[in-house]
Amino acid sequence: MSPLADHDRTQVDDIIDRWGGDAEFAVEILQEIQARFRHLPQAALERVSERTRADMGRLYHIATFFKAFSLKPRGRVPIQVCTGTACHVQGSARVLDAFSRELRVRPGESTADLEFSLDGVRCLGCCGLAPVVTIGDELVGGVDSSKVARLLRKPRKPGAQPRAKESRDA
Ligand code: FES
Repeated sequence: MSPLADHDRTQVDDIIDRWGGDAEFAVEILQEIQARFRHLPQAALERVSERTRADMGRLYHIATFFKAFSLKPRGRVPIQVCTGTACHVQGSARVLDAFSRELRVRPGESTADLEFSLDGVRCLGCCGLAPVVTIGDELVGGVDSSKVARLLRKPRKPGAQPRAKESRDA
């Protein structure tokens, strides 16, 4: 495990302090750490455990239960391809394959340069626009596989990382 740099450790401590160092807020603390580091570094989990007295097993359970968390670094720009029923019917599997091919990663992975991460997700709540994709903070409807390369060439601001609302098994 590589230790946290002093600056990173201070940021982790600030996050823990914002939540009163209370293990009851472990999910919220981990969400902020995930947003800051784009993953949950092992050393940060150790620090949360040390400062809040939360059991490491519980922290790992949270980190692996919610899809929004990752123990490996995630891309600067998260890409989510909706695979819900309406999007599936409209060909989202082909869209997901096209992103996978263009980026040379599988769903759940990030590109080597940590520019993009790719995930298939459940209904994004705008089925009328199916098939739907979010790229960073932009939602794009009516995507077909022929548009994927062009979508990836567009300059992107980093988007909000997914929130911890969806479990891996949900
Ligand atoms: S199924 Fe894709 S937005 Fe609802």
